[in-house]
Amino acid sequence: MTHWTALHEQYSRVKNRSIPKLFENSARAEQFSARVGDMYFDFSKTNIDAETLQTLLALARDSGVQAKREAMFEGARINETEDRAVLHTALRNLDGGPVMVDGVDVMPAVHNTLAAMRRFATRVREGAYTDVVNIGIGGSDLGPAMTVCALAPYHDGPRCHFVSNIDGADIADKLRGLDAKTTLVIVASKTFTTIETMTNARTAKAWMTDHGGDPRVQFVALSTSPEKTAGFGIDPAQVFGFEDWVGGRYSVWGPIGLSLMIAIGPKAFDAFLRGAAAMDLHFRAASLEENLPVLLALVGIWHNQICGYTTRAVLPYDERLALLPNYLQQLEMESNGKGVLRSGADSPRNTGPVVWGAAGTNGQHAFYQLIHQGTRVVPCEFLLAANGHEAELVHHHQLLIANCLAQSKALMLGRSVEQARIIAAAKGFEGDDLERQARHRVFPGNRPSTTLLYPLLDPFTLGQIIALYEHRVFVEGIILDIISFDQWGVELGKELASTLQPVVDGSQSCANEDPSTAALIDFIHRHRD
Ligand code: F6P
Repeated sequence: MTHWTALHEQYSRVKNRSIPKLFENSARAEQFSARVGDMYFDFSKTNIDAETLQTLLALARDSGVQAKREAMFEGARINETEDRAVLHTALRNLDGGPVMVDGVDVMPAVHNTLAAMRRFATRVREGAYTDVVNIGIGGSDLGPAMTVCALAPYHDGPRCHFVSNIDGADIADKLRGLDAKTTLVIVASKTFTTIETMTNARTAKAWMTDHGGDPRVQFVALSTSPEKTAGFGIDPAQVFGFEDWVGGRYSVWGPIGLSLMIAIGPKAFDAFLRGAAAMDLHFRAASLEENLPVLLALVGIWHNQICGYTTRAVLPYDERLALLPNYLQQLEMESNGKGVLRSGADSPRNTGPVVWGAAGTNGQHAFYQLIHQGTRVVPCEFLLAANGHEAELVHHHQLLIANCLAQSKALMLGRSVEQARIIAAAKGFEGDDLERQARHRVFPGNRPSTTLLYPLLDPFTLGQIIALYEHRVFVEGIILDIISFDQWGVELGKELASTLQPVVDGSQSCANEDPSTAALIDFIHRHRD
């Protein structure tokens, strides 16, 4: 019997059992949790028992997680469809040894670029700049935007703004009120061809020129293509380069993180890198049983591929991680949203889940209704710091903690119809009406969740958290036998958008369009001012 078959059999046996009853094993909370440094990951509020955990671990082992993990860290070309190594881990390998790609150690170049970034960031922080505008999209936006927001208490550099959408509303709203003479524009694009970024960069250049700034001095580029940045007119001395072995959604650790470094300073940025490096070390060295990224991945596989829950909610009880769900959406869905195996054959099972979420407690007043009482089960992943940064607002943080813990408890315990009857009776309902009212107040419970705890959201911890999720995605990809590092699924839309542009602006006819698209374009043409 394969591990997959064994897991499906186990699920069919245990799917209706009570999660609270699993705690008759008084050691469950200890046995179904893991610690790395100051971090604590609890997955005891799931339907995973010792037998299932062993089978999941065997699945990971037999999928070759350990060998493939080494291949990644050692610079093998594991991004097979693009024939590239996957080495974002080298960008944070500050205290480690050489990392070889095709026989060449990449670490001297990594250190040189980092040193150049530090010099530049220090100059910007000490200079007359009031604002930094990062223009990028996907990984060239979400990484810096999410981390700058997350580390607001450490932000002592110029204000940072992020422009990503090709919708002119984005750049118009972000530039409004800025002084073009004291604004630094960072054009962040690995390829330096992405239409959104290049369009916004040209608009920003025109704005700066028109308002008395000097784009030759105040524009910086972050890219793998020095030819293209030069073609755009950016001084090579203002370009921070990186290599194709850094994937877009894994790129915040290098030049793409420049706005973060300017915001929090090189020292705090180093701590951010060191946090990620600590997680790398753990991922590489810990046994599968104690390996946090592996355990997180196995919980994901159990819920998504075995239990059939199609989405997972990321719920940071941390306002400054409000963009983490968006960040993880790209990281997880662009990486593992694939339909074919490495071999090119169709995947026999569902691949990556839909990832979504929002910061708590706001989500509680929006979509938690469905999570608690809806017909679909949504595994929830809570993140929570033991401490907030606001020393004078400790009572806020205590309420935040109470809310987070209350949610995972409520999801697991639910409320029985007997309990609901007592509540309805206390409200004065009687007879049939009491029964009906009680049924609306029942919570099925038995809904799984995990909780990741950490002492404080500081740069080191944020680095750990992001690296943890990166490696989780990697492990899930290995187990699913898919290639997690390409993103061909975004290409078709890009191609069609460029062929549609002349049809939209009227320079080409709609004759070759499908009838639905032609009708939409016709409506737009007729209603255009
Ligand atoms: O969405 C596809 C994608 O290639 C992402 O992987 C990437 O982060 C984003 O576009 C931006 O690409 P670039 O940095 O080359 O502008």
